[in-house]
Amino acid sequence: MDDQRPYSPGLKGVIAGETSLAFIDGAKGRLLYRGYPIGEVVEHGTYAQVCELLWTGEWPAHAELACAVLPRGVVEALRQLPATANAMDALRTGVAAWGAIEGIAYPPTPDQARRLTATSPSILAAFGRLREGREPIAPDPSLNLAAGFLYQLRGEKPDAAGAKALEAYFMVGAEHGFNASTFTARVITSTHSDMASAVAGAIGALKGPLHGGAPSEVVNQLHEMGSPEQAEAWIRGALDRGERLMGFGHRVYRAYDPRAAALRKVAEGLSSVADWLQTAVAVEEIALRVLKEYKPDYPIMTNVEYYAAAVLQGVGLPPNLFPSIFALGRHAGWTAHCIEQASADVLIRPDMRYVGPAERHLPVAAAGATAAH
Ligand code: ACO
Repeated sequence: MDDQRPYSPGLKGVIAGETSLAFIDGAKGRLLYRGYPIGEVVEHGTYAQVCELLWTGEWPAHAELACAVLPRGVVEALRQLPATANAMDALRTGVAAWGAIEGIAYPPTPDQARRLTATSPSILAAFGRLREGREPIAPDPSLNLAAGFLYQLRGEKPDAAGAKALEAYFMVGAEHGFNASTFTARVITSTHSDMASAVAGAIGALKGPLHGGAPSEVVNQLHEMGSPEQAEAWIRGALDRGERLMGFGHRVYRAYDPRAAALRKVAEGLSSVADWLQTAVAVEEIALRVLKEYKPDYPIMTNVEYYAAAVLQGVGLPPNLFPSIFALGRHAGWTAHCIEQASADVLIRPDMRYVGPAERHLPVAAAGATAAH
């Protein structure tokens, strides 16, 4: 009870593992995947190459990853969900059912990672159709994961610009160190549980609005503000009420999130979102100025979710799918962490400081003791 070991609430600043996957330089706003800067990866790579890089350590000249055919039992599980179900719950359910049906076992492997990463877009697309009373459709093996997901969701081949933007979004969101969902996946793997369980748990952690729920909130906030002219009053009102501005702030970045910069570039290439983007850029400037005034000693900058909202809107995806689409891209990192965790093979089990009552006795024991006297 007099434990004097250092304690960091929320594990803030604690180094709790080692990784070769991503290097995040929060002070300078840099993100490297196995050494490669995120900007270069998005400009010259594909999501399939990023996946292979994270799973195997190699950057292949060519890599292909198409959406997988769903086992019938997974579709049946999705059919049981109400149309009103949260898409993250549906994705988590689909992944859990897939793991049970396929008998995914420890240890995690690159092949399991390929199969799961290729299955989840089909799960989400199937749910997207079922909730609208439409039947799921089979994947087109000639399309990559991003284009294939859009095809399975809508039933028609996506336009090249939209598919390319979603592919970039997947690359940008593929991996980001020891965030809450990745931590969850590693804890689950550390007990020698399987990759499907780890990813189902990670989806549960990502569902929370402080982690993966922000892009749809960004859309709502901009909608509520109405215009850049009204933004400042709206932002001050929200901060005075102790609310958080979605799309701003990060546990690690004290500088501009490099993923936000990469996605802003992608959004600028999408004509479908031009007006919205103009508003978002104007509001961002005001928000950064006001946040600096409110928190002069704690830099709160734009995070990845702010421009993710622009890209996903530009691709024409509904805000209630945004967090689950982020989850699709993050499969690369989650599954790579499962593999890395298994090779380190150490149970993650930290301690807690006990702050409850000192040792005492139940009333019944105390009463019994008195009666004996
Ligand atoms: N708006 C207003 N105030 C903020 C914000 C924000 N976006 N972010 C942090 N703060 C304030 C907090 O209120 C707190 O103030 P206090 O000390 O007066 O209580 C202070 O800054 C520190 O907050 P913490 O939560 O301790 O800081 P942390 O850096 O760990 O927060 C987090 C990171 C949770 C992402 C936070 O910035 C936040 O809630 N942002 C909004 C949600 C969001 O955009 N999430 C997406 C993150 S990106 C991702 O997960 C993929």
